[in-house]
Amino acid sequence: MDGIEAIFLHSDIPGANQIGGIVPDEPLFAEDELHFRGQPIGLIVGKSELLCRLAREKIELQYDELPVITDPREAAQKGHLIVPPRTFEMGNPDQIWSECAYVFEGKADVNGQEHLYIESQGAYAWPKEDGCIFVASSTQGPTAVQKTVALVLDIPMHKVEVNVQRLGGGFGGKEDQATAWAVMVALAAFSLGRPVKFSMHRMDDMLMTGKRHPYSSDYKIGLSKDLKILAYEATHYQNAGAAADLSPAVLERTLFHSTNAYFVPNVRATALSCKTNLPPNTAFRGFGGPQGKFIIECAIAHAAEKIDVSPDTIQRKNLLSEGDIMSYGQKMEGVLATPTWEECEKLYGIEEMKTEIADFNQSSFRFKKGLAVQPICFGISFTNTMMNHARALVHVYHDGSVVVSTGAVEMGQGVNTKLLQVACETFGISPDRVKIESTNTLRIANTSPTAASAGADLNGKALQMACNCVLDRLKKVAEDALGTDNISIRDNKIFSGDKETPMSWNELVQLAFSKRVSLSEHAHYATPIIHYDKSKEKGHPFAYHVYGTAVICVTVDCLKGTYHFDSVKLVHDGGKSMNLPVDNGQIEGGLVQGIGWMTMEELLYDKKGRLMSNALSTYKVPDIYSVPKEILIAHFDSDGHELAIKKSKAVGEPPLMYGLGAYFAIRNAVKAFNPAANLEFNAPYTPEKVLMDLCKKQVSTTFQDIQVEDAGIS
Ligand code: MTE
Ligand code: HPA
Ligand code: MOS
Repeated sequence: MDGIEAIFLHSDIPGANQIGGIVPDEPLFAEDELHFRGQPIGLIVGKSELLCRLAREKIELQYDELPVITDPREAAQKGHLIVPPRTFEMGNPDQIWSECAYVFEGKADVNGQEHLYIESQGAYAWPKEDGCIFVASSTQGPTAVQKTVALVLDIPMHKVEVNVQRLGGGFGGKEDQATAWAVMVALAAFSLGRPVKFSMHRMDDMLMTGKRHPYSSDYKIGLSKDLKILAYEATHYQNAGAAADLSPAVLERTLFHSTNAYFVPNVRATALSCKTNLPPNTAFRGFGGPQGKFIIECAIAHAAEKIDVSPDTIQRKNLLSEGDIMSYGQKMEGVLATPTWEECEKLYGIEEMKTEIADFNQSSFRFKKGLAVQPICFGISFTNTMMNHARALVHVYHDGSVVVSTGAVEMGQGVNTKLLQVACETFGISPDRVKIESTNTLRIANTSPTAASAGADLNGKALQMACNCVLDRLKKVAEDALGTDNISIRDNKIFSGDKETPMSWNELVQLAFSKRVSLSEHAHYATPIIHYDKSKEKGHPFAYHVYGTAVICVTVDCLKGTYHFDSVKLVHDGGKSMNLPVDNGQIEGGLVQGIGWMTMEELLYDKKGRLMSNALSTYKVPDIYSVPKEILIAHFDSDGHELAIKKSKAVGEPPLMYGLGAYFAIRNAVKAFNPAANLEFNAPYTPEKVLMDLCKKQVSTTFQDIQVEDAGIS
């Protein structure tokens, strides 16, 4: 077609046709077989996006259909696993079941989630001299892009410059899956000798990219007479999709978080990464942790229902305590599971809320309220120990202005604001003097992706080290010049002890420059303490844990199956937050994203692996009308942790898991209406599913009997 410049297929790749990050099992362009609908076959390059789309319509594919597997259990049965299964064990559940007063077994399913970053996937590239290439990418992992471009083009990494200005959201969806598109434009730009840009249409993005992993799990839980959980067993079938992507790492975090904020002395958790014919599923805020937590919360809800106590009675009795050992061997320190729960009780009155809800439900037939308490405990560090490092480069220019580069990628989470604070507070200068630069592989090499909520900690610590090195040299210059010691810098001024000296920051920098003192530093930080032995599945993988407790209240309209959240009241352990507005933004955003996953966001593939919920008309996400009417956030007063940047604990992912409580709050409301119904565990709890559960057979009243109490409703 006129205006079409080239079409690239696998045969046009100079290097390896391979983009797999953990396992080399993912071609950039399909060669013989397609393993999922939406798998890229080639790239059409033309003068405009429209022309390329029209050209795509003209291409006809001929293919033979192969059997399609979309169900992870079916894949496991056929032996289609991405990696061998893994098991975390502590104590011996087999010996304990007979000692338990109660033992319950069941199955729980939890669906995936579309990332729906506002900026869809995309990249642009242009050739530079000497066979080099520049790639601007919307990625959380610039080094992964650099490495893969080099591999596919068969050039060394030093010829590939990847630059990331900022992302319009990533949520894990651009930790690994931004790579393909960046590599494609690099390939085209490299081959054509011209700039090439690609920006994904929303529906293509939804169709072609992987999402949060759906899980189907079996659980078994054993409790003592006084409701202590004595044993827990879980088998998780992770729906990995058609290639490994990050699934093995996600699987690992499911195991790490399979007992959430609870101490269980006898645990056996097994996880299987099942290869299906869906797009490869990938990182999503919480990274497998939320699925692991959901399953044990289902087991607890199941037990509570059968024993006839409220789930929070069991939750409360089994919270982690100081010094408890997790199934993966880490001894827990600074445990705030019970303190945040108690603070929640004190601030918001959980018991009073429960009484109010019971009273309401007594007098209301059509509308029922439900409450759930949701404690969280989330480990901070990449579960893969070798990824926990970062670097920072600081230049102080001789006019006193400062430029900072790190490996951190800004994606709306506010990491650049925190880095700015680190630089300003370490130097004692105002923010107008500091610029946080884009993330660039020429300035900062070998970065880990900005992920695992560890971006601010790792890069912030490296930055602190770099700033301190320059600061020490500057202080030495000031001491020599002023003939005093005990130099400090505040508000762009130099102090000797408490006394302001006549010297300003700018003057000190100029003086140091004239004395040929280095005004630049590159520093490397690697998290101390952490280690993990995969052969034993034991170690100390996390620098620290983040805790918190949320109370979620919902009102269900039992005629319609619809619901709204009255309130979420939570106590969050953010340590010594260095920026409350930023952290509160993360808490609110994470919470609502978690509620969306548990309630209205329903990912649907048909039996042939075709995405049915492929647009925002069929895939519903929370909007301003569906967020809780009231969100109260209290910060637990604690010392934070030495390994957190300025003792301000990581906040990116943990709050998403407060959203789990949404599922159980709705469930409790449904139970209040239809106590005899035998309810499954199958998230999300969409209004359709709620309605079906409200109408389940055992319901004692028929719809004819419903009295419409609300004035104005007919
Ligand atoms: N917040 C916004 N606004 N946009 C995002 O894409 N990603 C989340 C979280 N908060 C995200 C976000 C995810 S998945 C992670 S791992 C962390 O931010 C990453 O940033 P951090 O390490 O600086 O916390
Ligand atoms: N969290 C998030 N992303 C990751 C991790 C992790 O633990 N490991 C590898 N990528
Ligand atoms: Mo976040 S899922 O670790 O990018």
